[in-house]
Amino acid sequence: MTSCLVKPDFVKHAQIVQWVSDIAKITQPDSIEWCDGSDEENARLLKMMCDAGTMTKLNPELRPDSYLACSDPSDVARVEGRTFICSEKESDAGPTNNWADPSEMRETLADLFEGCMRGRTMYVVPFSMGPLGSHIAHIGIEITDSPYVVVNMRMMARMGKAVYDVLGEDGEFVPCVHTVGAPLAEGEKDVAWPCNDEKYIVHYPETREIWSYGSGYGGNALLGKKCLALRIASVMGRDQGWLAEHMLVLGVTNPEGKKHFIAAAFPSACGKTNFAMLIPPAGYEGWKVETVGDDIAWIKPGDDGRMYAINPEAGFFGVAPGTSEKTNPNCLKTMEKNTIFTNVALTDDGDVWWEGLSKQPPAHLIDWQGNDWTPSDGEAGKKAAHPNARFTVSAAQCPSIDPDWENPEGVPISAFMFGGRRADTLPLVVESFDWTDGVYKAATMGSEKTAAAEGVQGEVRRDPFAMIPFCGYNMGDYFQHWLNVGEATEAKAKAAGNELPKIFKVNWFRKDENGKFVWPGFGQNMRVLDWIIGRCEGQAEAIETAIGYVPKYDDLHWQGSDFSKEEFQFVTDLSKDDWLKELKNHDALFTKLGDHVPTALHTARVKKGEKIAQNM
Ligand code: OXD
Ligand code: MN
Repeated sequence: MTSCLVKPDFVKHAQIVQWVSDIAKITQPDSIEWCDGSDEENARLLKMMCDAGTMTKLNPELRPDSYLACSDPSDVARVEGRTFICSEKESDAGPTNNWADPSEMRETLADLFEGCMRGRTMYVVPFSMGPLGSHIAHIGIEITDSPYVVVNMRMMARMGKAVYDVLGEDGEFVPCVHTVGAPLAEGEKDVAWPCNDEKYIVHYPETREIWSYGSGYGGNALLGKKCLALRIASVMGRDQGWLAEHMLVLGVTNPEGKKHFIAAAFPSACGKTNFAMLIPPAGYEGWKVETVGDDIAWIKPGDDGRMYAINPEAGFFGVAPGTSEKTNPNCLKTMEKNTIFTNVALTDDGDVWWEGLSKQPPAHLIDWQGNDWTPSDGEAGKKAAHPNARFTVSAAQCPSIDPDWENPEGVPISAFMFGGRRADTLPLVVESFDWTDGVYKAATMGSEKTAAAEGVQGEVRRDPFAMIPFCGYNMGDYFQHWLNVGEATEAKAKAAGNELPKIFKVNWFRKDENGKFVWPGFGQNMRVLDWIIGRCEGQAEAIETAIGYVPKYDDLHWQGSDFSKEEFQFVTDLSKDDWLKELKNHDALFTKLGDHVPTALHTARVKKGEKIAQNM
């Protein structure tokens, strides 16, 4: 790390030097450090944060090279209400985003950023989303006054000096400016987790800039992830003919060695990381599931009409609570070492614990807010770990990581899956009739609110493509973009003798009359994956219904399972009343999304309504 206003030798890019100097003039840090991503830099920052009380080093015998950070209780999650898309025109942000006039927002931020880094060090963090030098990758530079951000970015992106080699003297980058918004007066002692009650997460889509103020927490502060790789990248994708999606990507290999890659979108709290790291169940000996990514996919159509996906991230920033030997053994192995935990509980022997990790909690813990905690606190409803507590870890440590996860060409996608948490209506799995129907299914995705979310429990929150918090432009235009990409790619695919990926909708969460989940989920989801792959290969059977193609009981493979025909009937049941109600809700959604919703989707809804009325 180089600590000076003068650029280090490894930076050859005059525009970056000018920009860093301009931002320093505004934010007025005590010093500037140009991060190089080295081990030495990382170790020094971690030690500094341990000395400052921001981090605790975990017991190296139990959890080598791992740390726990506990945030301010007010700074624990993404702040959707304070996230802005400041496009020139309000209609380009659309009804699902907070819009603010870009020039007014620039004035607001100018006041807030003035002197915001006083008493602190300003770090310049170069990073690549996607393998360094890949034609699919994009580069960002994050300026931040948070050392916590620096050490996390080092795991979540390809961060360091080599980024400047790729940029050369004039390469393109997305400028990202982040501050915790807590300047220190002369001699003032810092707190363990500086932040500000006022928060702004601002995106300027036209100029591709990100400005983040007031939060030190993950999605608000690690600007490569949701801000760049989804909100700004979705705009780049719209303009350049590709897709930036809130999707995991996994590879499935059958015992004969044939492999398919699947990209899947689920809203939060639907087990995306668990699905990405699925372990095939008994009866699937010889099958392999491998992980390309757990949260974001950038998908570019190739000249051969296939869609190639990369995971732009280099690490996982996953939710710890609920992760266990039962739900995700691969994930537990991933975080055995070199992991940063945020807002989990500390055990007496210097390790970590969270709700769900073990049935029986330890007899004593220090909770995420630094208080003593015993199981009786748990019984009284006090959580030891914050429900949104996180782990940050390099993807390379994942035992199921796919050998092609860093392939700069990406991996070819055979199928898209869209899922949500629905107690009724939606069957276990349904295959779309065609691309437009698949876009319709994804556009009308919904998930029930859980106890952890605001609002009425069980109420369905529509979350098209699981992108509501992450689409950097008008949702109706985004639907149209999917239709356009499908059309353009299909033409190329036909010419090359290939096919567009098939699109499936899944629902692991049907409940019986006692409110119990009927489908066992987790590893058993392999059976659905198997059928999906069978459909892609033209081998698995299905029947046609008013809403798409669905499997009969015997079309899935049940070796090693005692899931009964009756239970299968329950999770695949289609109720005409429920579906007519569902379509009314789709209509309400489209009305809410406004006049940018493509006509093709309105037409699809009307046709679907007719089919359901006649055939269900
Ligand atoms: C995430 C999210 O953190 O979707 O991945 O909120
Ligand atoms: Mn996510």
